[in-house]
Amino acid sequence: MTQSKRIMTEMPLNAETPADRLRSWITPNAFFFNRNQGKIPEKPVALKDWRLTVEGEVKTTLELDFDQLVQMPKAIIANTLECSGNSRSLLEKKASGNPWTIGGVGNAVWGGVWLRDVLSRAGLKSRAAHVAFEGMDTPLGKAGIKFIRSIPMEKALSSTVLAYEMNGEPLPLDHGYPLRSLALGWTGASCVKWLNRITLLDSPFDGFFMDKVYRVFDKGQKPESGEIVKSIKLKSIITQPTAQQQLTTGEIVILGAAYAGEGRVEKVQVSVDNGASWQAVEFIGPDTPYAWRQWQFVWPVKEAGRYTITSRAIDDQGHQQPSNATWNTLGYGNNGIAEHAVEVTVLP
Ligand code: MTE
Repeated sequence: MTQSKRIMTEMPLNAETPADRLRSWITPNAFFFNRNQGKIPEKPVALKDWRLTVEGEVKTTLELDFDQLVQMPKAIIANTLECSGNSRSLLEKKASGNPWTIGGVGNAVWGGVWLRDVLSRAGLKSRAAHVAFEGMDTPLGKAGIKFIRSIPMEKALSSTVLAYEMNGEPLPLDHGYPLRSLALGWTGASCVKWLNRITLLDSPFDGFFMDKVYRVFDKGQKPESGEIVKSIKLKSIITQPTAQQQLTTGEIVILGAAYAGEGRVEKVQVSVDNGASWQAVEFIGPDTPYAWRQWQFVWPVKEAGRYTITSRAIDDQGHQQPSNATWNTLGYGNNGIAEHAVEVTVLP
């Protein structure tokens, strides 16, 4: 098995999970992808010095310490996190940004508290309509812009967790120690790490990471005019075999994962003839909301040759993963079937 992540940039750290480490329902912390706009704090903050401030359109400003937080009712939830730009490098037409293949995604079991429980302690003013999250990482670049992101109140109250554990361990430093937000089923951009400030606002937060990026827009269009990236899209990936792998005739096990953000994956089908015919896969492992489903397909291969393997996911509303991705300037949300095809050579 691969022993390290594929590092795309060191500063900020952007690294993806190798395909062979995506073959488990749980992605181990050490192999979980990293996506950063700023500099990861050099050392973990001392918990005695850390506070979570909740302010803005609240009845009472809160300053919660870590003990107070962990004494609150606990949330434990599996959630698949995907970077908005995952699979960008597989787009037919180049888009700017980190060249993710399929490894800007991972699934973890997170432990923490429901955001709604924290907000109810502060009490919301009637104007409170959006929740902004700010972390302790240091911005990079001359402009020194902090990574601040807001989500609408409905998402904040229904399905957002503040996580202090990842796969049974304290949240690792590179994934946001001691606390991060997780807007369940939404892309990583709405999941702020090293969280220490929550601000209730009457409108979406106005800033670079809200207006200029994490929006879907085309060439010639203003970023601000684009839709904000929210839920992870319906998608399936093939994690075994990998592209260009040499195989031999007989039974070949195809492995993959499928996910749907806030939706539920119901079926995955595989084609080994470049989309001419499709067969159902077998799901393996747990099936819970917000988490991916692992699957396998045992492919009997009689004849040697070149094959194109593709997979497609279908959700519980009958929506099907699209044949091709919709291109956009920053290459977000590539969930095309064709873009994720894997070409293999089968030897006699
Ligand atoms: N939070 C802070 N404070 N700073 C960041 O740069 N990057 C976001 C999000 N939260 C970011 C952040 C993005 S774009 C993604 S995809 C996820 O963190 C990645 O989380 P991970 O590094 O734990 O995988």
